[in-house]
Amino acid sequence: MSLSRPLGRLRLGVNIDHVATVRNARGSAYPDPVRAAKLAEEAGAEGITAHLREDRRHISDHDIERLMETLTLPLNFEMAATDEMQKIALRHRPHAVCIVPERREERTTEGGLEVAREENRLAHFIAPLREAGCRVSIFIAADRRQIEAAQRIGAPVVELHTGAYCDAHAEGDFEARDRELERLREMSAFAHSIGLEVHAGHGLTYDTVKPIAAFPEVMELNIGHFLIGEAIFRGLVPAIHEMRRLMDEAREG
Ligand code: PXP
Repeated sequence: MSLSRPLGRLRLGVNIDHVATVRNARGSAYPDPVRAAKLAEEAGAEGITAHLREDRRHISDHDIERLMETLTLPLNFEMAATDEMQKIALRHRPHAVCIVPERREERTTEGGLEVAREENRLAHFIAPLREAGCRVSIFIAADRRQIEAAQRIGAPVVELHTGAYCDAHAEGDFEARDRELERLREMSAFAHSIGLEVHAGHGLTYDTVKPIAAFPEVMELNIGHFLIGEAIFRGLVPAIHEMRRLMDEAREG
């Protein structure tokens, strides 16, 4: 089932990881990702996303504590499916938990989670998080098998990985980009048709956001790296305002 009208206002979650990347490059106390989160809130973001990686390369445990204490926006806590992260999430009980794959050697989250092959383990893994009141989303490729598996393990939300679409655009391979876009379009509609809430993100920029924002089933976009980079040139609030403007424009059709 595909919809012709959007399901509602598209939410923007601002990922602040790379404010912490810059801070950690010098081992200083600045720039502070919590300050960035507050500015994102002022700019009209509907949520803040932060990924506590196993190697703590950007966001730290203390950042998560401070975000939980001071944020009024919902926190989307990205984490790998490990016992350590589950304990941290259960201690803080953020609004949302997004389960992502993680390999130490990768530069960023390179692919979606392999849910289909790990259904049993992941079903047990997310159950206590759901019981604790966290809205669990699973970060996956736009792949029917993975979407069906996410539904079977009881996740209410899937976040579709837009990285391949954005990479193809950046490389100027427009055929591949359009193929990826079509796959994302079909799989957003499919995930929605089986009762899942659909989010999307990874690698989105001003040039790539509109076609994704136009998918009527997509309820939330999570965007970080580009916005933090753009903030160097125009400031974080104007950078977010421009993203919001493009999302709204795409949504209005
Ligand atoms: N969504 C998920 C699940 C992610 O892991 C990331 C990257 O941390 C993002 C969205 C945001 O990606 P980017 O920083 O490339 O905008």
